[in-house]
Amino acid sequence: MNYSVCLLAAGKGTRMKLPYNKVFHRLKKNKTVLDMSLSIFLRDSECKQVVLMYAKEDESYMIERYSKIHRVELHEGGMTRQESAGIGLHFVNQDYVMIHDAARPFVTKEQIDSLKVALETEDACLLMIPSVDTIKIVKDGYVETTPLRQHVYNAQTPQCFKTSLIKKCYEKSLLEGRQATDDAQLVEWYTDVPIKVVLGDLNNKKITLPQDIPA
Ligand code: CTP
Ligand code: MG
Repeated sequence: MNYSVCLLAAGKGTRMKLPYNKVFHRLKKNKTVLDMSLSIFLRDSECKQVVLMYAKEDESYMIERYSKIHRVELHEGGMTRQESAGIGLHFVNQDYVMIHDAARPFVTKEQIDSLKVALETEDACLLMIPSVDTIKIVKDGYVETTPLRQHVYNAQTPQCFKTSLIKKCYEKSLLEGRQATDDAQLVEWYTDVPIKVVLGDLNNKKITLPQDIPA
């Protein structure tokens, strides 16, 4: 299953409170968060293209470090994650695409393989984990309802799609100026295409807050 990755690194990492973008934070063996999220895909020969989205202020560092890597192409992102993904999708040249947060460096080969297996029969799938907490819907400071816990999952990335499908959904959201909180939500809004759940694990967390950095 050949595919492209749209790897989103064009944020600022504000909540991480570092003097630089959190994706450049060094984890183990001096590898940055971005080095790790990129290398898992570069090790997969079926990943034919990495569309790597960067923020304007990171341009020179990104070009210096990543522009010579075969299969990687760099593009400037937008103001929001959705905008960066929408721009990146224009450059995707494979029939299937995995949209991945560069801030999730712990995704595994096994998870990517499971997503590829799902894509053989599905046009949309994503990594999710069952919620360990009871989730409550709140309105105006009061609990409204409690969804059944076995129905509640946390969405992660990669989120994977037939490229033509997700491109159409992004185009519609742009026309309507509608902001989703993940990619799969656009498929929910604009199509009846089923979105297959592939089980992820807690390790595939998004590095968001200072306490998310492993000791
Ligand atoms: N992202 C992006 N373009 C943006 C905003 C976010 O490509 N305009 C990317 C981030 O680089 C990150 C992923 O989307 O890999 C998930 O977003 P988030 O965790 O919110 O990262 P940041 O927006 O960088 O962090 P913060 O919201 O704390 O500023
Ligand atoms: Mg953000």
